[in-house]
Amino acid sequence: MKSTLSIEQTQNRGLKQSAKEWAGWIAAIVAANRTKQLRDSPTSKPTNLQDKLIMDFLKRHAMLNKHADFFERLHIDFWQGEGGIEFSQNCDHRFEDLFLAKQKFEFDQLREVWNQLRPKHIIEFGCNSGLLLNYLTTQLEGVQSSTGIEINAQQVQQNQASDSFDPRIQFTATEGGEWLFENATANSLYVSNGGVLEYFKRERLDEMLTHITAQLRPAVFFASEPVADDHDWTLSTESIPFGEELSFSHNYTDLFESNGFSIVHQRAVQFDTWKMVATIATCR
Ligand SMILES: C[S@@+](CC[C@H](N)C(=O)[O-])C[C@H]1O[C@@H](n2cnc3c(N)ncnc32)[C@H](O)[C@@H]1O
Repeated sequence: MKSTLSIEQTQNRGLKQSAKEWAGWIAAIVAANRTKQLRDSPTSKPTNLQDKLIMDFLKRHAMLNKHADFFERLHIDFWQGEGGIEFSQNCDHRFEDLFLAKQKFEFDQLREVWNQLRPKHIIEFGCNSGLLLNYLTTQLEGVQSSTGIEINAQQVQQNQASDSFDPRIQFTATEGGEWLFENATANSLYVSNGGVLEYFKRERLDEMLTHITAQLRPAVFFASEPVADDHDWTLSTESIPFGEELSFSHNYTDLFESNGFSIVHQRAVQFDTWKMVATIATCR
Protein backbone atom coordinates (compact mmCIF):
# COMPACT_ATOMS: atom_id res chain seq x y z
CA MET A 1 0.00 0.00 0.00
CA LYS A 2 1.31 3.47 -0.91
CA SER A 3 1.97 5.81 1.98
CA THR A 4 0.38 9.25 2.47
CA LEU A 5 2.33 12.03 0.72
CA SER A 6 4.78 13.75 3.04
CA ILE A 7 7.47 16.44 3.02
CA GLU A 8 10.11 13.91 4.05
CA GLN A 9 9.24 11.63 1.13
CA THR A 10 9.39 14.61 -1.26
CA GLN A 11 12.77 15.86 -0.02
CA ASN A 12 14.51 12.48 0.22
CA ARG A 13 16.61 11.55 -2.77
CA GLY A 14 17.59 8.10 -4.04
CA LEU A 15 20.83 7.51 -5.95
CA LYS A 16 19.09 7.71 -9.33
CA GLN A 17 17.40 11.03 -8.53
CA SER A 18 20.63 12.53 -7.17
CA ALA A 19 22.45 11.49 -10.35
CA LYS A 20 19.73 13.12 -12.47
CA GLU A 21 20.03 16.34 -10.47
CA TRP A 22 23.80 16.41 -10.92
CA ALA A 23 23.27 15.93 -14.65
CA GLY A 24 20.67 18.73 -14.50
CA TRP A 25 23.11 21.01 -12.70
CA ILE A 26 25.68 20.48 -15.45
CA ALA A 27 23.05 20.99 -18.18
CA ALA A 28 21.96 24.21 -16.43
CA ILE A 29 25.51 25.58 -16.49
CA VAL A 30 26.20 24.54 -20.08
CA ALA A 31 22.87 25.96 -21.38
CA ALA A 32 22.71 29.06 -19.20
CA ASN A 33 20.37 31.02 -21.49
CA ARG A 34 17.87 28.17 -21.71
CA THR A 35 18.07 27.79 -17.93
CA LYS A 36 17.15 31.44 -17.46
CA GLN A 37 14.21 31.04 -19.89
CA LEU A 38 12.96 27.99 -17.98
CA ARG A 39 13.40 29.68 -14.62
CA ASP A 40 11.29 32.65 -15.79
CA SER A 41 8.75 30.50 -17.70
CA PRO A 42 8.91 26.96 -16.31
CA THR A 43 7.44 24.19 -18.43
CA SER A 44 5.50 21.34 -16.86
CA LYS A 45 5.97 19.20 -19.99
CA PRO A 46 9.62 19.43 -21.11
CA THR A 47 9.97 17.80 -24.52
CA ASN A 48 13.71 17.08 -24.85
CA LEU A 49 16.37 15.63 -22.58
CA GLN A 50 18.13 18.93 -21.96
CA ASP A 51 14.92 20.65 -20.80
CA LYS A 52 13.97 17.66 -18.66
CA LEU A 53 17.33 17.74 -16.87
CA ILE A 54 17.25 21.51 -16.40
CA MET A 55 13.68 21.39 -15.06
CA ASP A 56 14.64 18.66 -12.55
CA PHE A 57 17.49 20.86 -11.39
CA LEU A 58 15.36 24.02 -11.21
CA LYS A 59 12.61 22.31 -9.21
CA ARG A 60 15.09 20.95 -6.68
CA HIS A 61 16.84 24.33 -6.48
CA ALA A 62 13.52 26.17 -5.98
CA MET A 63 12.47 23.69 -3.29
CA LEU A 64 15.70 24.05 -1.31
CA ASN A 65 15.75 27.83 -1.70
CA LYS A 66 12.01 28.34 -1.07
CA HIS A 67 11.27 30.02 -4.40
CA ALA A 68 7.48 29.93 -4.20
CA ASP A 69 7.09 32.18 -7.28
CA PHE A 70 8.76 29.56 -9.45
CA PHE A 71 6.32 26.86 -8.32
CA GLU A 72 3.32 29.12 -8.82
CA ARG A 73 4.41 29.78 -12.43
CA LEU A 74 5.00 26.04 -12.95
CA HIS A 75 1.52 25.12 -11.66
CA ILE A 76 -0.15 27.73 -13.86
CA ASP A 77 1.70 26.34 -16.89
CA PHE A 78 0.50 22.83 -16.04
CA TRP A 79 -3.15 23.68 -15.49
CA GLN A 80 -3.50 26.07 -18.42
CA GLY A 81 -2.17 23.42 -20.77
CA GLU A 82 -2.95 19.78 -21.43
CA GLY A 83 -2.74 18.97 -17.72
CA GLY A 84 -6.06 20.65 -17.01
CA ILE A 85 -7.99 18.94 -19.75
CA GLU A 86 -6.50 15.52 -19.02
CA PHE A 87 -7.50 15.95 -15.41
CA SER A 88 -11.25 15.95 -15.94
CA GLN A 89 -11.04 12.93 -18.27
CA ASN A 90 -9.35 10.93 -15.50
CA CYS A 91 -10.49 12.54 -12.28
CA ASP A 92 -14.19 13.36 -12.50
CA HIS A 93 -14.78 10.38 -10.21
CA ARG A 94 -13.41 12.53 -7.38
CA PHE A 95 -16.72 14.36 -7.08
CA GLU A 96 -18.38 11.03 -6.15
CA ASP A 97 -15.44 9.33 -4.43
CA LEU A 98 -14.09 12.25 -2.46
CA PHE A 99 -16.76 14.88 -2.02
CA LEU A 100 -19.93 12.80 -1.89
CA ALA A 101 -18.45 9.69 -0.28
CA LYS A 102 -15.95 11.14 2.21
CA GLN A 103 -17.10 14.69 2.83
CA LYS A 104 -20.84 14.31 3.30
CA PHE A 105 -20.34 15.44 6.90
CA GLU A 106 -18.59 18.58 5.64
CA PHE A 107 -21.43 19.27 3.24
CA ASP A 108 -23.97 18.98 6.08
CA GLN A 109 -21.89 21.45 8.10
CA LEU A 110 -21.68 23.76 5.11
CA ARG A 111 -25.43 23.66 4.61
CA GLU A 112 -25.92 24.73 8.26
CA VAL A 113 -23.51 27.64 7.89
CA TRP A 114 -25.16 28.61 4.59
CA ASN A 115 -28.58 28.62 6.25
CA GLN A 116 -27.32 30.86 9.07
CA LEU A 117 -25.46 33.37 6.91
CA ARG A 118 -27.65 33.15 3.81
CA PRO A 119 -25.07 34.18 1.19
CA LYS A 120 -26.40 34.89 -2.30
CA HIS A 121 -23.57 33.81 -4.56
CA ILE A 122 -21.28 30.81 -4.98
CA ILE A 123 -17.80 31.27 -6.43
CA GLU A 124 -15.80 28.12 -7.11
CA PHE A 125 -12.08 28.45 -7.81
CA GLY A 126 -10.71 25.68 -10.05
CA CYS A 127 -14.18 24.28 -10.82
CA ASN A 128 -12.88 22.06 -13.65
CA SER A 129 -15.86 20.16 -15.13
CA GLY A 130 -18.33 21.90 -12.80
CA LEU A 131 -19.89 18.84 -11.13
CA LEU A 132 -19.55 20.18 -7.60
CA LEU A 133 -20.69 23.68 -8.52
CA ASN A 134 -23.86 22.29 -10.08
CA TYR A 135 -24.46 20.17 -6.98
CA LEU A 136 -24.00 23.07 -4.54
CA THR A 137 -26.14 25.41 -6.65
CA THR A 138 -29.04 22.99 -6.71
CA GLN A 139 -28.69 21.70 -3.13
CA LEU A 140 -28.24 24.95 -1.18
CA GLU A 141 -31.32 27.10 -0.74
CA GLY A 142 -31.76 30.48 -2.40
CA VAL A 143 -28.61 30.67 -4.53
CA GLN A 144 -28.90 33.73 -6.80
CA SER A 145 -25.82 33.18 -8.95
CA SER A 146 -22.89 30.78 -9.24
CA THR A 147 -19.57 31.36 -10.95
CA GLY A 148 -17.11 28.65 -11.88
CA ILE A 149 -13.61 30.04 -12.28
CA GLU A 150 -11.19 27.87 -14.16
CA ILE A 151 -7.75 28.63 -15.59
CA ASN A 152 -8.06 25.96 -18.30
CA ALA A 153 -9.83 27.69 -21.21
CA GLN A 154 -10.62 24.45 -23.06
CA GLN A 155 -12.38 23.04 -20.01
CA VAL A 156 -14.43 26.22 -19.68
CA GLN A 157 -15.46 26.03 -23.35
CA GLN A 158 -16.66 22.46 -22.77
CA ASN A 159 -18.66 23.53 -19.72
CA GLN A 160 -20.18 26.49 -21.59
CA ALA A 161 -21.20 24.22 -24.48
CA SER A 162 -22.97 21.78 -22.15
CA ASP A 163 -26.69 22.07 -21.35
CA SER A 164 -26.44 20.00 -18.18
CA PHE A 165 -25.87 22.91 -15.79
CA ASP A 166 -28.33 24.87 -13.70
CA PRO A 167 -29.06 28.18 -15.53
CA ARG A 168 -27.79 30.24 -12.57
CA ILE A 169 -24.25 29.00 -13.27
CA GLN A 170 -21.70 30.86 -15.40
CA PHE A 171 -18.22 29.66 -16.22
CA THR A 172 -15.30 31.95 -16.80
CA ALA A 173 -11.78 31.20 -18.02
CA THR A 174 -9.48 33.22 -15.84
CA GLU A 175 -6.99 33.07 -13.01
CA GLY A 176 -8.73 32.84 -9.61
CA GLY A 177 -6.97 35.73 -7.86
CA GLU A 178 -7.45 38.12 -10.77
CA TRP A 179 -11.16 37.34 -10.92
CA LEU A 180 -11.57 37.86 -7.18
CA PHE A 181 -9.93 41.29 -7.10
CA GLU A 182 -11.94 42.57 -10.05
CA ASN A 183 -15.36 40.96 -9.70
CA ALA A 184 -16.23 39.48 -6.31
CA THR A 185 -19.04 40.95 -4.19
CA ALA A 186 -20.16 40.58 -0.57
CA ASN A 187 -22.45 37.71 0.48
CA SER A 188 -20.54 34.97 -1.31
CA LEU A 189 -19.56 31.41 -0.55
CA TYR A 190 -16.06 30.70 -1.94
CA VAL A 191 -15.23 27.09 -2.73
CA SER A 192 -12.00 25.27 -3.52
CA ASN A 193 -12.46 21.52 -3.73
CA GLY A 194 -10.14 18.59 -4.25
CA GLY A 195 -6.97 20.71 -4.25
CA VAL A 196 -6.92 24.17 -5.80
CA LEU A 197 -5.40 26.54 -3.21
CA GLU A 198 -2.45 24.13 -3.12
CA TYR A 199 -1.35 25.70 -6.45
CA PHE A 200 -1.30 29.27 -5.10
CA LYS A 201 1.66 30.58 -3.15
CA ARG A 202 0.91 31.68 0.41
CA GLU A 203 1.46 35.41 -0.24
CA ARG A 204 -1.13 35.32 -3.01
CA LEU A 205 -3.66 33.56 -0.79
CA ASP A 206 -3.01 36.10 1.99
CA GLU A 207 -3.83 38.92 -0.44
CA MET A 208 -7.00 37.17 -1.64
CA LEU A 209 -8.31 36.34 1.84
CA THR A 210 -7.47 39.78 3.22
CA HIS A 211 -9.36 41.29 0.30
CA ILE A 212 -12.42 39.21 1.24
CA THR A 213 -12.32 40.04 4.96
CA ALA A 214 -11.59 43.74 4.36
CA GLN A 215 -13.99 44.42 1.46
CA LEU A 216 -16.43 41.58 0.91
CA ARG A 217 -18.06 40.68 4.24
CA PRO A 218 -20.03 38.64 5.02
CA ALA A 219 -18.44 35.62 3.38
CA VAL A 220 -17.97 31.88 3.80
CA PHE A 221 -15.04 29.81 2.53
CA PHE A 222 -15.15 26.06 1.98
CA ALA A 223 -11.71 24.62 1.17
CA SER A 224 -10.90 20.95 0.69
CA GLU A 225 -7.15 20.75 0.17
CA PRO A 226 -4.38 18.15 0.45
CA VAL A 227 -1.63 18.65 3.02
CA ALA A 228 1.60 16.78 3.71
CA ASP A 229 1.13 14.08 6.34
CA ASP A 230 4.14 15.32 8.34
CA HIS A 231 3.32 19.04 8.16
CA ASP A 232 2.91 19.88 11.85
CA TRP A 233 0.76 23.01 12.00
CA THR A 234 1.58 23.55 15.66
CA LEU A 235 5.21 24.04 14.65
CA SER A 236 5.14 25.60 11.21
CA THR A 237 3.07 28.15 9.29
CA GLU A 238 5.36 27.76 6.28
CA SER A 239 3.91 26.59 2.94
CA ILE A 240 6.02 23.66 1.82
CA PRO A 241 6.13 22.05 -1.66
CA PHE A 242 5.28 18.35 -1.51
CA GLY A 243 4.28 15.34 -3.60
CA GLU A 244 5.10 14.69 -7.23
CA GLU A 245 3.53 17.98 -8.38
CA LEU A 246 5.38 20.01 -5.74
CA SER A 247 2.18 21.83 -4.84
CA PHE A 248 2.05 23.68 -1.53
CA SER A 249 1.13 22.12 1.79
CA HIS A 250 -0.35 25.20 3.50
CA ASN A 251 -1.23 25.54 7.17
CA TYR A 252 -4.96 26.14 6.61
CA THR A 253 -5.71 27.03 10.23
CA ASP A 254 -3.15 29.80 10.16
CA LEU A 255 -4.05 30.82 6.61
CA PHE A 256 -7.69 31.53 7.45
CA GLU A 257 -7.29 32.82 11.02
CA SER A 258 -4.39 35.16 10.32
CA ASN A 259 -6.43 36.73 7.52
CA GLY A 260 -9.47 37.50 9.66
CA PHE A 261 -11.65 34.40 9.20
CA SER A 262 -13.07 32.27 12.02
CA ILE A 263 -12.90 28.54 11.44
CA VAL A 264 -16.23 26.91 12.19
CA HIS A 265 -15.33 23.39 11.04
CA GLN A 266 -12.13 21.56 10.13
CA ARG A 267 -11.49 17.87 9.60
CA ALA A 268 -9.02 15.64 7.76
CA VAL A 269 -9.98 12.60 5.70
CA GLN A 270 -7.76 10.12 3.91
CA PHE A 271 -8.24 9.94 0.14
CA ASP A 272 -5.85 7.56 -1.70
CA THR A 273 -2.36 8.90 -0.91
CA TRP A 274 -3.65 12.32 0.13
CA LYS A 275 -4.51 13.68 3.52
CA MET A 276 -7.35 16.06 2.60
CA VAL A 277 -8.26 18.80 5.06
CA ALA A 278 -11.70 20.37 4.73
CA THR A 279 -12.07 23.80 6.31
CA ILE A 280 -15.20 25.93 6.62
CA ALA A 281 -14.37 29.49 7.63
CA THR A 282 -16.54 32.58 7.92
CA CYS A 283 -16.19 36.33 8.26
CA ARG A 284 -19.40 38.06 9.34
C1 LIG B 1 -6.70 19.28 -8.72
S1 LIG B 1 -7.81 20.10 -9.78
C2 LIG B 1 -9.33 20.08 -8.83
C3 LIG B 1 -10.51 20.21 -9.74
C4 LIG B 1 -11.88 20.10 -9.05
N1 LIG B 1 -12.08 21.19 -8.11
C5 LIG B 1 -12.06 18.74 -8.40
O1 LIG B 1 -12.19 18.66 -7.19
O2 LIG B 1 -12.05 17.76 -9.12
C6 LIG B 1 -7.32 21.80 -9.72
C7 LIG B 1 -8.15 22.70 -10.62
O3 LIG B 1 -7.82 24.07 -10.34
C8 LIG B 1 -7.59 24.78 -11.56
N2 LIG B 1 -6.65 25.87 -11.25
C9 LIG B 1 -5.37 25.74 -10.84
N3 LIG B 1 -4.82 26.94 -10.61
C10 LIG B 1 -5.80 27.85 -10.85
C11 LIG B 1 -5.84 29.28 -10.79
N4 LIG B 1 -4.78 29.99 -10.41
N5 LIG B 1 -7.01 29.90 -11.11
C12 LIG B 1 -8.11 29.17 -11.49
N6 LIG B 1 -8.11 27.83 -11.59
C13 LIG B 1 -6.97 27.18 -11.27
C14 LIG B 1 -7.03 23.71 -12.48
O4 LIG B 1 -7.10 24.04 -13.84
C15 LIG B 1 -7.87 22.50 -12.10
O5 LIG B 1 -9.06 22.43 -12.80
